[in-house]
Amino acid sequence: ALVSMTKMLQDAKAGKYAVGQFNINNLEYVQAILQAAEEEKSPAILGVSEGAARYMGGYDVVVAMVKAVYKAQGTTVPVAIHLDHGSSFAECAKAIHAGFTSVMIDASHAPFEENVAITSKVVELAHLHGVSVEAELGIVGGEEDGVVGEVMYADPKECQELVERTGIDTLAPALGSVHGTYKGEPKLGFKEMEEIGAATGVPLVLHGGTGIPLKDIQKAISFGTAKINVNTENQIQQTKTVREVLAANPDMIDPRKYLGPSRDVIKETVIGKMREFGSSNKA
Ligand code: G3H
Ligand code: ZN
Repeated sequence: ALVSMTKMLQDAKAGKYAVGQFNINNLEYVQAILQAAEEEKSPAILGVSEGAARYMGGYDVVVAMVKAVYKAQGTTVPVAIHLDHGSSFAECAKAIHAGFTSVMIDASHAPFEENVAITSKVVELAHLHGVSVEAELGIVGGEEDGVVGEVMYADPKECQELVERTGIDTLAPALGSVHGTYKGEPKLGFKEMEEIGAATGVPLVLHGGTGIPLKDIQKAISFGTAKINVNTENQIQQTKTVREVLAANPDMIDPRKYLGPSRDVIKETVIGKMREFGSSNKA
């Protein structure tokens, strides 16, 4: 069923694995990720950025498409449709009313008190609808959807206060992770992660999942990370395949012939992540 992230992430935290959030851009992403989830018997989170939602024609289109594919492919594993980096109460409300089962309100760029106020408002509306809420503190580095961040670590005291005052279901403390690819090895703040996991009690989210070595994934999970976001990796692998197929077949014009193979590559990439995150056979 399409469900919120609440139980999914609590189970993951208790079972010491993480559920992957895989960002979607079009139909092929939804097909590939749901196929991967079903084959792996893994829960999955479909991440939808505001830009991606616009590209697909709006939140209503996204929800209708995901529901239709879920049913048509005979999917049985739990799947969440999650607004990724929601920029305002209004955007979260639109997604919730369109049928998203989960939202992230990212007011991490605002001063702390403002973050608490906006996040609380989103939680109130979301929980009325049985929708889960993720919030963020600190700044994830790199660029996503035109928003550029200089890495700033989340403050453990603020994390505890944000969770207590807002009632969020899960928290993304920025601890050195970066959207896009890493220059060299990522340097994640594991000490802070452990402290924040223990102080807040909520399952934690790790953004910037592309390019994090397995040992760091495992460490993060051991410190209470229960959700890991992956976007860039699927884009790299998909685009690489499209380029290869087109380069080998300069006369090819049927989109199914290059989007089809690149869809299979997304599926394989997602399966690889599910195994690394330990979510296979957990649905
Ligand atoms: O919110 C989405 C992610 O944090 C994705 O990060 O593109 O580096 O995999 P990534
Ligand atoms: Zn992110």
